[in-house]
Amino acid sequence: MTAAPSRAIEALTVDGLSVSFTVAAAGWPRRKRQVGTLAAVSDVSFTLAPGEGLGVVGESGCGKSTLARAIAGLAQPTSGVVRLGNQTLSSRRSRSTSRRIQMVFQDPASSLNPRMTVRSMLTEILRVHEIVDRSQVGQRLEELMRMVELPPGVLDQRPRALSGGQRQRVGIARALAPLPELIILDEAIASLDVSVQAAVLQLLRTLQGELGLAMIFISHDLSAVRGLCARVAVMYLGRIVEVGPVEEVLARPAHPYTRALIAAEPSLDETRLPGAAGLAGEPPSAINLPTGCAFRNRCPVAQDSCADSVPTLNPDAHHDQACFFPIDTVVPAASQA
Ligand SMILES: Nc1ncnc2c1ncn2[C@@H]1O[C@H](COP(=O)(O)OP(=O)(O)O)[C@@H](O)[C@H]1O
Ligand SMILES: [Mg+2]
Repeated sequence: MTAAPSRAIEALTVDGLSVSFTVAAAGWPRRKRQVGTLAAVSDVSFTLAPGEGLGVVGESGCGKSTLARAIAGLAQPTSGVVRLGNQTLSSRRSRSTSRRIQMVFQDPASSLNPRMTVRSMLTEILRVHEIVDRSQVGQRLEELMRMVELPPGVLDQRPRALSGGQRQRVGIARALAPLPELIILDEAIASLDVSVQAAVLQLLRTLQGELGLAMIFISHDLSAVRGLCARVAVMYLGRIVEVGPVEEVLARPAHPYTRALIAAEPSLDETRLPGAAGLAGEPPSAINLPTGCAFRNRCPVAQDSCADSVPTLNPDAHHDQACFFPIDTVVPAASQA
């Protein structure tokens, strides 16, 4: 049986989380020392039950990584709180609280120390977090290898000797070693070959089932999200614009941005959503956000009034969305033919 003690797993609450950066504003002469505030994450709130999977999608620059880092204690929130159960996790985390939320990054090659063997890297983590007695370290390391479906011989390799898929499995083992309650995977399969992606996704599904581990799965790949997560949150310029059960959101997106993301992924646009077009251009700079709805400059259904105030998440008939003119999610009979 397991050499590691089991621990209670608690729900995650993210409440009003914002992260902004002070940056030199482009086009302004540096000598005047004019700076801008870049709102990377704005007023994000959600909860995640123990063992639940939440996908986070949105274009590059929409704040997904910054949100992940703030939840994991790697970025300092400007406001808002992150809680697990009743415990508020500040951005300066003690060892015992940092243990509880772990991250897996996109590029395993650059996130693993090239000089250390897998064994020494994982042993260090077990030691720092006091996960098992010294006498049980070897057994726990082999168990971690089994969990990520790697042969025990990998323990004595350095990252360079491993394939991309093996390295990412080591990245996952490293995240699992401190017995987290939640792991956040930030584009963790994006740099792998397609066949390797499928195998790693399958592994993540197995781990979810076996460990009851909650996951936040950040991805550009909506079908990967659908395969792994019960819920999905769509981010646009720092805000969640739509969130709900994944099948529901993908089949009946209420926000025009979600609809455009789905239309851009032809394999998912099975229902041929009426009026859906792909996305033109890129999100505007997060330094000078437009007033009101940040999506209105690219939105096919925007009205003048969308400039007046920032739309907040509202529960509509099916799930939460933040658009003043949500798309009628009832597909007209004529377009179903
Ligand atoms: N350390 C930082 N300093 C300044 N700006 C940052 C920093 N990290 C991220 N940003 C900016 O915050 C915004 C969100 O970035 P990010 O969270 O990486 O988005 P995503 O992961 O969705 O691509 C972007 O405009 C990015 O340039
Ligand atoms: Mg990112």
